[in-house]
Amino acid sequence: MCGIFAYQWNKQALPILQRGLERLEYRGYDSAWVCVMDAQGSTKLIKSVGKVSELESKISKQTKGKEEELNAFTRGIAHTRWATHGVASEVNTHPHHDAGNHFYVIHNGIIENHAKLKKQLREKWYTFYSQTDSEVVPALLAEHWTGDLLETVEKVLPLLHGAYALVIMTTHAPNEIVALKRWSPLILWTAPDGFYCSSDMQALAGYATQTVTLSDGELVYIKNNDYIIKAEWKIIKKDLEKLDIKAMDESRGEYETFMRKEIDEQPAIIRRAFMGRVNFDEKAIHADATKYLKDKEIQKVVFVGCGTSYNAGQMGALWMQNIAGIDASAKIASEYMHQRIPTDPKTLHVFLSQSWETADSIEVLKHIKDKGGLTFGIVNVVGSTIATMTDCGFFLRAGYEIGVASTKAFTAQMINILMLTLFLWKKWSLSYDRYTNILHAMKTVPSLMEQIIAQEDAIANVAKEMSRFNNMFFLGRKYEYVVADEGSLKLKELSYIHSESYPAGELKHGPLALIEESFPCVLIAPHDGLFEQNMSSMAEIQSRKWKVLVVSNRETEWADRMITIPSAHPAVMPFLTTMVVQLLSYHVAKELGRDIDKPRNLAKSVTVK
Ligand code: AGP
Repeated sequence: MCGIFAYQWNKQALPILQRGLERLEYRGYDSAWVCVMDAQGSTKLIKSVGKVSELESKISKQTKGKEEELNAFTRGIAHTRWATHGVASEVNTHPHHDAGNHFYVIHNGIIENHAKLKKQLREKWYTFYSQTDSEVVPALLAEHWTGDLLETVEKVLPLLHGAYALVIMTTHAPNEIVALKRWSPLILWTAPDGFYCSSDMQALAGYATQTVTLSDGELVYIKNNDYIIKAEWKIIKKDLEKLDIKAMDESRGEYETFMRKEIDEQPAIIRRAFMGRVNFDEKAIHADATKYLKDKEIQKVVFVGCGTSYNAGQMGALWMQNIAGIDASAKIASEYMHQRIPTDPKTLHVFLSQSWETADSIEVLKHIKDKGGLTFGIVNVVGSTIATMTDCGFFLRAGYEIGVASTKAFTAQMINILMLTLFLWKKWSLSYDRYTNILHAMKTVPSLMEQIIAQEDAIANVAKEMSRFNNMFFLGRKYEYVVADEGSLKLKELSYIHSESYPAGELKHGPLALIEESFPCVLIAPHDGLFEQNMSSMAEIQSRKWKVLVVSNRETEWADRMITIPSAHPAVMPFLTTMVVQLLSYHVAKELGRDIDKPRNLAKSVTVK
C-alpha cells in the first residue's frame, strides 16, 4: 500500500529517495513519484505510473548530464501510491500540490471529509486537478497560509478527519519539512547526514539507528539541522530509540519469485517456532507469553484478522474448540466494530497479522484495549504497533515475507496458534494421550511439509490443467474447509481466476446450481473421520458431470485428478494441504504468466480502513 519516504539536509536527495522507493516496493503500489527541492525553493518532479524501475529510467533520462546541478537539491519527498481515490494515473500520483505550486504533500491513509472540504474550496475559488482525497491538503495549506509553515499546518490539521500520515514541503520555506501522523505509521530517523522520514520501518532497516516512532496526533517539524516534536500544540520530548530490526533479505537466490522461495522456507520456520517454546520431552509449552497467561482465567478466545490472517484465526477457533475445549470464534477485523461484541475480561483476544500496520486490525485492538480486554499478538515484526500494544504474544520468527500473497506467514501463524491451543488445553476436553498425540504430530509437520515440496512436479501438472478454467470451487470440511478458504483466496489473488470456497456439506444447499463442466472443484478430503461424507459430496458433484480434483492421503478411483499427500494426524493435516493449495495456485499463476510477487491491485500492508 502507499509508502512515504522523505529526506532533508545536506546530501543530494534524489539517490536517497530512489533507494527509499525501492525499499517501499514490496508493499505493493501502482504509481511512484519523487520531488526534490533546492535551498531557493526550485523543484524537480518526476512521476511514473507503474514500477519504481520505470520511474528510475525516467529519472536517469531527465537528469542525464545534469548531475552537478542536482547536488543543490538536498531535500525531497517520495511516494508509492496504491490507488484508493482516483485511478492509477500520473495526475493522481503524489505528491500533490496547490494551484500556485507552493505546497507539496505526500499522504498515506484517507482524508474522510475530503468531499465536503473540496466542495467548500470549489465554492470559494479553487479548481482541483486530481480525483484524490489528498489534493485537499495542499489546497487548504494555500488557503490558510500565514507566512509560517508550522503555524499553517497547525491551522489546517483540525479541518482534516480520517486516518493519515502526511509529509509537507513548501517553496516558501525550503529548509523546513513538517511530518505528522494520525493512525497511519510514521518514523523519523535522525542521522548524522540529515533527517529521514518513512512510513515503513523496513525502508530504514539496516542503516537507521536513532529513530523516533511518532504516536497518533504527533508532528515533527524539521528546520535546517534541527527538529522539534509537538503533540496537541505543545513541544514534547521523545527519546531516540534504537531501530532493532533486520534489513529485509531482498535476494531471491536461485528462485524465480519470492513467493516460491517463501513456500520452501516453511518447514524451517516451523522448526524455528518450536525452539525454546515446545519441550517435546516434557510434553509442555513454555514461553514468556504463556507465563503471563498462566494465572488468567480464559473462558473464551476470539481471533481477529483480515484475509489470510483471518483464515489462520478460523483454524485457531476450530483447534481451540476441538483440542483445548475452549469456546472460540474468528472475526474479520473490518466487521468487528459493526457487531457490538461485549468485551469480557475472561476472553483472550488474539490479533493475527503478518505485517505491522493493518488498519482494520489495529482499530479493533485499540477498541479492545480501551475496554480493558486481554490481548495476545501473533505478529511478525518486533516493535510493531500490534506487538507493542498487545499484553503478550508470540513472534512468528518467519522473516520478512515479500510476496504479496501470504504463504509462510500463514503456516507460521497456524503453528503459533496450535502451540497456544496446546498451552490452553483443558484436561476435561481431551485425554492426556490424545493431547500428547497432537503434540508429537506437531513435531512431524516440517518433514511432512518437505514431502509435499518433493511432489511439486505432480502438482504443477495438475495446475497446468486448472489454468484453462475461469471458475473454480474449493471444498472441504472442518479444518480442511479453512484450507479451502485459503486455497480459494490464494488462487484468486495470484491467478485472477474466479473461485469460491464452501464447506463440502453446503454444496447441496445452493451452489450445486452452478454446476457445469467448465466449473471444476478442488476437494480437500484427507482420510479422516469425514472421508466418507466427503466422498458423498464427490458423488453429488460427479453425477452432475463436474470435474473433481481430490487432495487426499487415500487414493480414490472416482477422482478425475488426484494429489496424494502423506498421512498425518487430522489436527496437523492442514499444514500439508495448505502447501498443496499454495503450490497449485502458484503454478496456475505461473502458467498464466501473472506477476506472482505483486498481483495486480493488491498491497502487502493494508493501511487504510
Ligand atoms: C494474503 O495473501 C493477503 N495478501 C491478505 O489477505 C492479507 O493476509 C491481509 O491483508 C492481512 O494482512 P496482515 O496479515 O498483514 O494483517
